[in-house]
Amino acid sequence: MVTTSSQDSLSQTFDLKTFDLKGYLSDRQQRVEAALDGALPVVYPETIYESMRYSLMAGGKRLRPILCLATCELMGGSEPMAMATACALEMIHTMSLIHDDLPAMDNDDYRRGQLTNHKVYGDDVAILAGDALLAYAFEYVARQTVGVSPERILRVVADLGRSVGAEGLVGGQVVDLASEGNPDITLETLTYIHTHKTGALLEVSVTAGAILAGADEAAIATLSDYAKCIGLAFQIVDDVLDITATSEELGKSAGKDLQAQKATYPSLWGIEESRRQAQQLVDQAKAAVACFGAGAQPLLALADYIVARTH
Ligand code: FPP
Ligand code: MG
Repeated sequence: MVTTSSQDSLSQTFDLKTFDLKGYLSDRQQRVEAALDGALPVVYPETIYESMRYSLMAGGKRLRPILCLATCELMGGSEPMAMATACALEMIHTMSLIHDDLPAMDNDDYRRGQLTNHKVYGDDVAILAGDALLAYAFEYVARQTVGVSPERILRVVADLGRSVGAEGLVGGQVVDLASEGNPDITLETLTYIHTHKTGALLEVSVTAGAILAGADEAAIATLSDYAKCIGLAFQIVDDVLDITATSEELGKSAGKDLQAQKATYPSLWGIEESRRQAQQLVDQAKAAVACFGAGAQPLLALADYIVARTH
């Protein structure tokens, strides 16, 4: 048995051989759900808050907040230091999905096992709900982070901004939309799309936790390497699941990539090679954080979870 060094409620005792990932995820998911619930009460004008909450509180794996809490803990920080950023990451992720599902983008009817936001509230309110969640995410980090110096908070705000803008999610989404109907795009373009559309926010989820905890630059760089690998592996697995899983399992329409004639990793490599590449990236991610010793166990287990997941 090995005990991590963090000081508060995040402290856990990890047994390296029998780490209970299911229990760990469920515990962290519950904490994140409670924090998100408290972050967004419904006030006037109710419609916009209801629309924001409809998507924000619709479940989801909460992987980004959990990664942020995990790296903060690993670097000796506490839950209150990271929870505001953890919530902001989920707000940003949720708003990107609300906008991604709009008729002007992927035109999807289902997300997280329920009708998409615009199907319930209309395109106008769904666009505004996304905008409001994005703005609130930054306000929330700035106002609600506790026990962290303003310099570190400012760095997290700047990194978050970069990860969602044209250098991050938006850039990836633009190239993704431009590539639709072109199954012949290169591996380089496909990798650009995914490292930006999915990878950028996952990377900041991992590094922000460490920054808030006061990690040194070498540790932040190592965690960034881990994040880049799991980010790409996550997307390769997403592409495979779009082919192999059902809509019920995914909680969203399956088979969309083929339908939209999107180039994907399986379309370039085939399913088996895609799985092998994802596993290789996960192995690389795990090797990167092995230097942190026993405390890295949640990050190792989370990396495994990314390739093993079924939705
Ligand atoms: C899902 O991809 C979509 C994303 C990961 C992000 C999309 C980004 C935007 C809409 C930009 C949002 C705007 C800001 C300001 C951040 P997918 O369509 O491949 O996956 P899916 O099957 O889950 O829809
Ligand atoms: Mg989509």
